[in-house]
Amino acid sequence: MDGDRKTLSRREFLRESAAAAAAFSMGVAAPARAAEETKPADLEPILYGFVGTGNQGRRLLSRAVRVPGTRVVALCDIYPPNLEEGMKIAKDVRTYQDYREMLEKERDLDAVLVATPLHWHAPITIDALRAGKHVFCEKTLARTVEECKEIVRASRETGKFVQVGHQRRYNPLYEHALKLIKKDGVLGRITHIRALWHRNGSWRRAVPEEMPPGTNLALWGYEDLEHLINWRLYRKSSGGLMTELASHQLDVVNWFLEATPLSVMGLGGIDYWEDGREVYDNVSVLYEYPNGVKVVYTSITTNAYDDYYEQFMGDEGTLLLTKETQGLLFREVRAEKLAWERFAHKDKSRGKEGIVLDAQATPDKKKRRGRGAGKQVGGKEAQKDPFYPYYLELEDFFACVREGRKPFCDAEAAMRSAVTVLMANEAIKRDTKIEFTEDLFAV
Ligand SMILES: NC(=O)c1ccc[n+]([C@@H]2O[C@H](COP(=O)([O-])OP(=O)(O)OC[C@H]3O[C@@H](n4cnc5c(N)ncnc54)[C@H](O)[C@@H]3O)[C@@H](O)[C@H]2O)c1
Repeated sequence: MDGDRKTLSRREFLRESAAAAAAFSMGVAAPARAAEETKPADLEPILYGFVGTGNQGRRLLSRAVRVPGTRVVALCDIYPPNLEEGMKIAKDVRTYQDYREMLEKERDLDAVLVATPLHWHAPITIDALRAGKHVFCEKTLARTVEECKEIVRASRETGKFVQVGHQRRYNPLYEHALKLIKKDGVLGRITHIRALWHRNGSWRRAVPEEMPPGTNLALWGYEDLEHLINWRLYRKSSGGLMTELASHQLDVVNWFLEATPLSVMGLGGIDYWEDGREVYDNVSVLYEYPNGVKVVYTSITTNAYDDYYEQFMGDEGTLLLTKETQGLLFREVRAEKLAWERFAHKDKSRGKEGIVLDAQATPDKKKRRGRGAGKQVGGKEAQKDPFYPYYLELEDFFACVREGRKPFCDAEAAMRSAVTVLMANEAIKRDTKIEFTEDLFAV
């Protein structure tokens, strides 16, 4: 019977309430009463398990636990100190070191969130899909092209979706920038893009001298604690700067251009931090996109002056998105003045005055259209968070689970970004230009 919780199983109730939830969260034509009566907090909670409570895992978990209508019931990590740290965020949970055991015992989970090192993304995501769970997995989708394809296949076969942690896609600043570019045409024709992430540091993490009790590294294929803690530095577990940093920024390039690259060439090396690492400590990459667009990407570890940004250059203007938080628009001298230009708030960057992008100036629930959860149920407190886009991506993930809606950054979108960066590593390794043939993206 409609709305009778007692006669419905938990899963059935989730599905039944999805329509009301969708109407509520998207603010679309819904009977006013349903919206009034169905607050997220009243909904049957979405149950999830969390795998990998390391640095990023805890950053995500502490935001996930604030999304109304959800409950974390299980945590899993092979490294006991990190599992304990996770338990400080999520109380009253069952804990596991083996994700397979978690999937076996936690039959009621609706979703699994994964924030492990890159090489574990595919095995855990695929097993979770096959256990009937929707998955949120951190970026980059997977360590190899074939693994990406396996994830997409598993998602299609099981009917369960994967959302990937490219949080810029859920960041109101980026949506605002895209609208200015696409709808308002503020850049004219885009011909070049420059993106970079420059740091000055070894990227190494301190490794404890003693093995924490209860740690079984061999079972999970780690040679020693160094390979677990500093997994980013080894080829077996990481694609280095391209998968860890560039993937976010090239995901934006693919998204904004609505395209994938035609070819890539590049240089890289282990030229400064000669400390046993296996991944490049600097990469300089050049992509060619359709319509003659060139994308120059660099990531270095010896100079932090440039920090990190994405810069879109067109024949009428330049749009600079810095550190995921600041947007500036510079118009070319020969471009016609925009109607609103003189009223806009201006700021300087490197001596040039630009128009400040204010994502809050336009109501973001409208901008997020069908794919966003619409109402920002996290409220003002969540919006003050410097990592607010993490909250937004998770909020939308859970909304997708509830509504059976395909995520905006799903496995297929994330696969295009993964292939984009994985092939750059390949071009550097082989010292050749690589063409992105159709079969690379075909599943
Ligand atoms: N979206 C972002 O902005 C962002 C930022 C940083 C990291 N990340 C991503 O988050 C992921 C984790 O990065 P991190 O910095 O938190 O690394 P981390 O080393 O701090 O954490 C990884 C955790 O996974 C655990 N782990 C390793 N293998 C496991 C397995 N087989 N089963 C269960 N647990 C396992 C480790 O013990 C550790 O606690 C990576 O994919 C990384 O690319 C994303």
